[in-house]
Amino acid sequence: MNASARIPHGIHNACDYERQAAQHLPADRLAYIAGGCGWDRTVAANRAAFERWDVLPRLLRDVRGGHTRMTLNGQPLAHPFLLAPVAHQRLAHPEAELATARAAEATDTCLVASTLSSTPLEAIAQAGGDTPRWFQLYLQPERAHTLDLLARAEAAGYQAIVLTLDASIQLASRSALAAGFTMPADCTAANLAGYAPPGDPPLAPGASRIFQGAMRHAPTWDDLVWLLSATRLPVWVKGVLHPEDARRLQAAGVAGIVVSNHGGRSLDGAPASLGMLPAVRAAVGDPYSVLLDGGIRSGQDAFKALALGADAVLIGRLQVYALAAAGALGVAHMLTLLIEELHACMAQAGCATLADITPGALLPCPLDP
Ligand code: FNR
Repeated sequence: MNASARIPHGIHNACDYERQAAQHLPADRLAYIAGGCGWDRTVAANRAAFERWDVLPRLLRDVRGGHTRMTLNGQPLAHPFLLAPVAHQRLAHPEAELATARAAEATDTCLVASTLSSTPLEAIAQAGGDTPRWFQLYLQPERAHTLDLLARAEAAGYQAIVLTLDASIQLASRSALAAGFTMPADCTAANLAGYAPPGDPPLAPGASRIFQGAMRHAPTWDDLVWLLSATRLPVWVKGVLHPEDARRLQAAGVAGIVVSNHGGRSLDGAPASLGMLPAVRAAVGDPYSVLLDGGIRSGQDAFKALALGADAVLIGRLQVYALAAAGALGVAHMLTLLIEELHACMAQAGCATLADITPGALLPCPLDP
């Protein structure tokens, strides 16, 4: 970790990194990262969903042996926070994903590296040492390129594939457009450098820009079945909101699912991920692995997600804000704060272990007058 980096003043909680982000990022980059798509309704819904729940304190319970250790499909984890796949981290810091990976190692955090990272997946793996690492996959228009990515991820020691399915089309955020954001030339997708784009034929007159255009290469259930047979690694699916999709993915042999709306960056007006979590959990039953992301800004938010059915949570934007503020040190500090906040919430709710966190720990907030 860079010894000269400093934790900025005024950071006492993980969410303070969000408040500070404007001091460390140019306005257009901040708008791109903070924004979702369209009018950012789903971004707001993700946050609002956490505010609908209170945590009920419990008295006199002995939590002295408390901890947050867990296993996810047999993989031991020190705590239930994962670093979500976030593309183009050079936007936030020159060391980009290498800094994030060092922070993951320092805090024993599972990192999910994006297909669209600014740094090659092999370099991220090396920077992360022995910390658990998963690779987030976007299926490529050419299957040969997907196979190549899978082989590289396997060779670099990634332990799972996270297939993201909710972003075949992403409409821009109006706030990012208004801020004039364009991707800088040095923020390329390093993993895809060797893959020539497929050279799509021009759209026929009258053809849909969406159906025959952007969705032309969008994955289908057949592609999922193919992927499951193309790798020896467990495959997770990220971007699940509908309970029926969840059940079908489970039946197809997917190792686990991530309840997510891509941080509100795919369909503006999609429901809050936390709002869909109980129905998804009910659909797949108890022992199946379910993760959640979207709107988590504190350890208490994580507690609420665990109480409503998640096994663990992924951290998206807070990771980028902390990276922008103080590189690897910032990300490690942010994660440490999240873990501490979760410990505090567990202790006050009388939960010594993650297994003790049940729906009964929460109460719906009384509605505003
Ligand atoms: C993302 N996300 C994302 N997801 C993914 O599967 N692959 C990716 O490359 C990216 N890239 C990306 C870039 C940026 C700038 C953001 C903000 C998000 C979505 C991410 O993994 C996660 O689902 C959300 O960020 C979770 O919501 P919060 O924590 O940001 O509120």
